[in-house]
Amino acid sequence: MKQRIFSGIQPSGNLHIGNYGGAMKQWVQLQESFDALFCIVDLHAITVAQDPEMLRKRTLEIAKMYLAAGIDPKKSALFVQSHVREHTELAWILNTLTRNGDLTKMTQFKDKSGLDFENIESWGTKENLQQWKKEFNAVGVGLFDYPVLMAADILLYDTAVVPVGDDQVQHVELARTLARRFNARFGETFVVPESKVRREGARIMGLDNPLKKMSKSAASEFNFIALLDEPEKGRKKIMKAVTDSGSEVVYEDEKPALKNLLNIFSLLEDIPVDDIARSFVGKGYADLKRALSDSVANFLTRFQHNYFALSDEETLRVMKAGADRARTIASEKMKIVRERMGFLS
Ligand code: TYM
Repeated sequence: MKQRIFSGIQPSGNLHIGNYGGAMKQWVQLQESFDALFCIVDLHAITVAQDPEMLRKRTLEIAKMYLAAGIDPKKSALFVQSHVREHTELAWILNTLTRNGDLTKMTQFKDKSGLDFENIESWGTKENLQQWKKEFNAVGVGLFDYPVLMAADILLYDTAVVPVGDDQVQHVELARTLARRFNARFGETFVVPESKVRREGARIMGLDNPLKKMSKSAASEFNFIALLDEPEKGRKKIMKAVTDSGSEVVYEDEKPALKNLLNIFSLLEDIPVDDIARSFVGKGYADLKRALSDSVANFLTRFQHNYFALSDEETLRVMKAGADRARTIASEKMKIVRERMGFLS
């Protein structure tokens, strides 16, 4: 039997080549050898306020992007998280096994809320503590609890491997912890999953600041290349990307901007990054940027050709079939979980 993989993306903001490199690109390759489920995690998206019409629109858009990237519905189940109710049910049960300390240490929570509980001493003065309390009181419970829902997503399907970018590895760790905790208390029920991060796509950095990851919520649009950017715009963004000092094209940590451009190149062309770097020996930054901008423009043209060919009806049909398949697996698992928890059947 094939091992199972599960992964997901939130339908919020603009999907960019970082999401493609960290997640989708791996998925397309892994669907050949794994039993694959890919989810659009709309329940995660509502941990920050969403406009309902916009959320509906974006959910459908992301579904089309999965298909345009090459996820094949004959091989993989594609579905919307809220279509399979078992996710929220298991999340509640896992909440009862989760400690506050499991969640306060999550880097993403610290970044999004600005609250670092582990460093509480540094808040020192009374004014600071008061400010801190105000901020804490304003943060939504959903944002705090978010990784537990993600653990439920993963554990419901006996997932062995979770292909993600490296910002999600800590969340997969929590899924591992909760699986072990549940198994120890109620008997062997959940597979303990592993995350899978691809070297070149682990963390695509911002084009305007190679020290921070490319992000759909970045202030400047020159931070990212959105998957639906016009190809010419993508080209321009590469030409405007910041570079390091020096002139030689090398792949090293000391040259973060170059490293990032080479990683993007490697992902888009499917050529190992060392080979790409070698092909630029004796050439300069301008040559690299020119070649990469062609590669980006070609990639966006191909991707969007696929994307715009998809109808809403066809995409919805695929998502419905995917949810039916996911529900079959999830409902079997929840029967066992309810039994083990001691719920009356
Ligand atoms: P999300 O929607 O923030 O990101 C989706 C995927 O894109 C990857 N990613 C990146 N990879 C490389 N470089 C970047 N700059 C970059 N930015 C984003 C992320 O690592 C991720 O793989 N909590 C998750 C969604 C989720 C999920 C799950 C994932 C919910 N349930 C279960 C896996 C399994 C999230 O917010 O990803």
